[in-house]
Amino acid sequence: PGRPDHGKGLLGFKAVPAGTADAVVVPEGYSAQVLIPWGTPLNSHGPRWKKDASNSAADQARQIGSNHDGMHLFPLTRDAGLLALNHEYVDTRGLYADGDEVLTKEKVDKALAAHGVSVVKIRRDRASGAWEQVDSPFNRRVTGSTPVRFSGPVSAAHPELRAAGDPKGTLNNCSSGHTPWGTYITCEENWNTYFGTEDASWTPSAEEKRYGVAAAGTPYRWHEADERFDLAKNRKEVNRFGWVVEIDPFAPRSAPVKRTALGRFKHEGATVTESKGRVVVYSGDDQDGEYVYKFVGQGRWRDWIRRGRSPLDHGTLYVAKFDDDGSGVWLPLVFGQGALTEANGWKDQADVLIRTRTAADAVGATKLDRPEWVAVDPKNKDVFLTLTNGSGNGGKAGPRKPNPYGHILRWAEKGGDNTALSFKWEVFVLSGDPAYDKTVKLGPEAVHGSPDGIGFDADGRLWIQTDISNSSQNLASKGYDNIGNNMLLACDPETREIRRFLVAPRGAEVTGLTFAPDGRSLFVNVQHPGESTPAWGEPTVDDPRAVSNWPDFDPAGRPRSATVVITRKDGGRIGT
Ligand code: FEO
Ligand code: CA
Ligand code: CA
Ligand code: CA
Repeated sequence: PGRPDHGKGLLGFKAVPAGTADAVVVPEGYSAQVLIPWGTPLNSHGPRWKKDASNSAADQARQIGSNHDGMHLFPLTRDAGLLALNHEYVDTRGLYADGDEVLTKEKVDKALAAHGVSVVKIRRDRASGAWEQVDSPFNRRVTGSTPVRFSGPVSAAHPELRAAGDPKGTLNNCSSGHTPWGTYITCEENWNTYFGTEDASWTPSAEEKRYGVAAAGTPYRWHEADERFDLAKNRKEVNRFGWVVEIDPFAPRSAPVKRTALGRFKHEGATVTESKGRVVVYSGDDQDGEYVYKFVGQGRWRDWIRRGRSPLDHGTLYVAKFDDDGSGVWLPLVFGQGALTEANGWKDQADVLIRTRTAADAVGATKLDRPEWVAVDPKNKDVFLTLTNGSGNGGKAGPRKPNPYGHILRWAEKGGDNTALSFKWEVFVLSGDPAYDKTVKLGPEAVHGSPDGIGFDADGRLWIQTDISNSSQNLASKGYDNIGNNMLLACDPETREIRRFLVAPRGAEVTGLTFAPDGRSLFVNVQHPGESTPAWGEPTVDDPRAVSNWPDFDPAGRPRSATVVITRKDGGRIGT
């Protein structure tokens, strides 16, 4: 009773139109609340946010980081939980009161402190349904300077990881994951962009080139003020990044652990599922022409946990090959198997994992259009992968050349077993605007481009988030004008019906996806409001406030990434 009859099946809300407003727009009957914007103190006695960005590095280390991304809510009770979220990068135009023309060690330290992960306790007021951050010993920051451990086949003492000082920090924390044993996973994506050098005698090795490590490859220029990031002075530091990192939100003093068995690349995320008691982790490598991987744990994960060992340290990493006949296989990245032999120049499993991309090249994996998030359907274990946009890689798995709007692949692992080594795949949805591409079959309520975040709710609804950025615009400077701002859409995976649920402020992507256990609150992140995007046919502007001033709308302030909580005014379940 009282269920609005806006459609049949899983989608029970009225679509919001595409738009370009500087606001979070949600369907009729829903409301949106801003939570923990960048700079919020971790605890009430912490350093207060200064809107002119004059907070110090030490302040930032005790405040919520910038550019919120992947996220997961770990419930404590029905109305409280630990929210763990990623901070992907910094916008140096907004981070410092006096800009970034001159870099100092203090400025690099502030940028490092704005990266990483926040864990904060949040609580819901039963009467209003609103959530608030509360003081807690669990509230913590992990940053680019936090001491970290290495585990699995690649140890911190490996010669390729021998750099100045002990290993510390995690950077470019894009998407996330969470494990059945209650830990959070954060992933290192575009870590190469933090390293550079002024030393003209430095040239990249083939391996460094394969990962985009370059003398002038950094927009951040941290090497100008901190030798840690100087490729000529501290070359191996770069090999300490590119990993999947596990954090125990319930042990605030525990060190984050880099789980090396999952390989080293530009990890978008890590989607964990179980099959036959074994753990399976899917992870995309988000760059044009890169691959999608899966890790299959050895033996039952509960047995490893019982013995105080990590299920993520023992298992096999595979990379996907998509054949044009709709079948596919998982190719093992194991030293001594296939092309990965000593005769071919491979030393051991640690070597294979440090050079994961090269190993995947050697076994003949399928290049894809920027593999982003993976979601596993809780009902039938089908796997969905967003390919955000690219050149049209992948044979038939890349149905458009070039591919400015992206698409979503779906596959069924053999026998519905996620540990299986073969699968059947199809293009689940071709994103885009039929006004520009007649092969796109989406109505005005579903038109979208550059799918990125993806995930299921407990009812089996598939949620799709978009990230139209300057890079997608470069592929099609027009063609996004009817799509407008980034958005969140809901999809019925059986009928393939897609309906727009939320439109983000100007310049912001929508990312991170998690629910209260009762399904009555949906948490998403609004990242980089104010990023200039020619989606609206406007020239690039230098001041992000000219594009967006969300959520404070203070002319003396600046746009801030934040978490947004969506609830229904009648207190019902989201999406129904
Ligand atoms: Fe950080 Fe691939 O999105
Ligand atoms: Ca992403
Ligand atoms: Ca993206
Ligand atoms: Ca992003």
